Amino acid sequence: MAQVRACPPYRLLAVHYDRFFFFPFHRVWQRARRVLLGKILPQLGSACDLACGTGTTALAMARRGLKVFAVDLSPTMCRLAHEKARRAGVPVRVLRADMRTFRLPEPVDLVTCEFDAINHVPRKVDLTRVARAVARALRPGGYFCFDVNNRMAFQKIWPSTWWIERPGLVLVMHGGYDARRDKGWTIAEWFVREGRRWRRSRERVEEVCWAPAEIQRSLHLAGFDQIRSWDATPFFRDDPWIRPGCRTFYLARRSPSA
Ligand SMILES: C[S@@+](CC[C@H](N)C(=O)[O-])C[C@H]1O[C@@H](n2cnc3c(N)ncnc32)[C@H](O)[C@@H]1O
Repeated sequence: MAQVRACPPYRLLAVHYDRFFFFPFHRVWQRARRVLLGKILPQLGSACDLACGTGTTALAMARRGLKVFAVDLSPTMCRLAHEKARRAGVPVRVLRADMRTFRLPEPVDLVTCEFDAINHVPRKVDLTRVARAVARALRPGGYFCFDVNNRMAFQKIWPSTWWIERPGLVLVMHGGYDARRDKGWTIAEWFVREGRRWRRSRERVEEVCWAPAEIQRSLHLAGFDQIRSWDATPFFRDDPWIRPGCRTFYLARRSPSA
C-alpha cells in the first residue's frame, strides 16, 4: 500500500493555492467587494486582510493606495504573501497570527476575512473571540467584511468528490458534514510526481457552522451595530454548485461609540 503523508492544514494547499483556487474564484470576491465596499472603499485609508492566504486581496487593497496589514496563521501562507508583495513592489505588512487573538500595531478602517476563512476556527465559541479581536483592530466606525459557508454548503456541496489535474500534480477533494459537531470537513488528497514516482499526501480541513442568528449575536456582543448580509449566489454568476443559502457575505460596522 502506498504511504500517505499527513500534513498540517494549509501546507500543500498553501503552496498550490494560487494554481488551483485563484482562477476563477478571485473574480467572485472582486465582484462581492465592488458591491459591498464600492461606496466605502474610496473613503478609507487603511485595512487588514485577515486570514490573507497568499495575499491576493491585501495586494489589491494596497494597490488602491491603502496602508495594508495581512494576517494568517499558516507560516507558508505568510511567506507566500510576503514574497508576492515584495515581487509586486507593493507595501503590505504580513503578520503571522491567529484570527482569534491577533493585534495590529495601529487601528485600521477596514478588516476583510474572505473565502470562508472565518469558518476555519476550531470551535463555535471562537466566533465571538474573532469578532472581539476584529473590533479591537478597527477604529470606531470601521468596517468588518467577511463571508461564511452555511450549513447548506456543508450538507449539499461538501459531500461530493472533485479533482483537478495539473502537470505532475493531482488534487482530489472529498468531505462531508458532521451533524453532531456541526462542522464541515474536507480531505485534500495530493498526488505529486517526484521523478518516476508519485508522492501521496493528505490534509484535513474542518469548518465550523453558524446560524445567521449566532453570527448576528457574536457581532453585537463585540460592539458592531450596522450589520448587513448578502446571499453569495449572484456573485458566483453561473456556478451550478452554489445555490441560495450556501454562502453569505456580511458587512458590519464597529459602533462609533463602542
Ligand atoms: C480558504 S483560505 C482563504 C485565504 C484567503 N482569505 C483567500 O481569500 O484566498 C483560509 C485561510 O485561513 C487561514 N487560517 C485558518 N485558520 C486561521 C486562524 N485561526 N487564524 C488566522 N488564519 C487562519 C489559513 O491559513 C488560510 O490561509
